[in-house]
Amino acid sequence: MIDRSFPTLRRTVTAFGLTLALALPASATEYRLGLITPPSHIWTQAAQAFATDLSERTSGADTVTVFPASQLGNEAQMMQQLQTGALDMAFLTLAEVSNRAPDFGAFYAPYLADDIAHAGRILRSEAAHGMLDQLPQTTGVVGVAYGMAGLRQIVSRGAVASAADLSGLKIRITPFTPILDFYNLVGAAPTPMPLPEVYDALANGQVDAIDMDAELIVALRFYDHAQTIVQSDHMMFPMVGLVSGRVWAGLSEDERAMIGDLMAQHVDGTIDTYVEMDPQWLETLRGVDVDYVETDASFFGDVVGQWDAIWSERSPSLPAIRAAADSLR
Ligand code: BEZ
Repeated sequence: MIDRSFPTLRRTVTAFGLTLALALPASATEYRLGLITPPSHIWTQAAQAFATDLSERTSGADTVTVFPASQLGNEAQMMQQLQTGALDMAFLTLAEVSNRAPDFGAFYAPYLADDIAHAGRILRSEAAHGMLDQLPQTTGVVGVAYGMAGLRQIVSRGAVASAADLSGLKIRITPFTPILDFYNLVGAAPTPMPLPEVYDALANGQVDAIDMDAELIVALRFYDHAQTIVQSDHMMFPMVGLVSGRVWAGLSEDERAMIGDLMAQHVDGTIDTYVEMDPQWLETLRGVDVDYVETDASFFGDVVGQWDAIWSERSPSLPAIRAAADSLR
């Protein structure tokens, strides 16, 4: 059971009026959950399933309205809303959290995970889960569990046969520092850009290449504007289920246990989905009409070691996460 303390507000809607009073228990709580992914995305489906389960578990007393596709703003804005209690819950990239709590940069060590199943085991490790305990203090949010998307790949408008071909390219990245450092070390020109802007930017040449996972390369057809897909598997991409610290503090112990455990179940469940589906999406991409280059850490030369040198200064948990990754091989 999850118990992460903090202060809070909570929107309690008292049922009044004859019809509502008959239909609902004496009081009901309406939560709002935000995320940036499109409605069909696995994270959004997990959020919807969590909403359904919570409503069923409470006989309709607690409801969660899911706002996908950045309807409530980008991740930085949603993080702020969580901190003030304006937003109750969110499924965010751990990337956004790492912008405020750099210790989480540990998860972006290049080639920390050998493959998608290994990434899942790392995220389910005690070392990883222990790190969530720092979130209420450092960021004002409660992290209930990790989910994930697939490993990161590169889609390029031009030919890419070696890392030298990435030199000077404008490569779209999710806006966070560990990936910015990675592509700077590669010699590229990393260009931070939120997910909703990526398709047009690649299509119109505003960027030369993008850093992306297989699910979205397939679902959003990023290959339509590409000459090369580099399956580099260079980084994992965790998600985290968050509750506003203010909201959390207003919940009873029982409510925390119920909401926390239910959300954790759905967030964690995304790991199983990606472990199953990521190889299938990659297989689909092997079949599309672009050059397909499969690489490993050797493609990036000493960049991996250089990244580690920078981030061992910034993330005190990096050695523990590396040790967990080693023990889970
Ligand atoms: C991205 O920024 O690339 C991204 C964000 C959320 C889910 C998957 C990918």
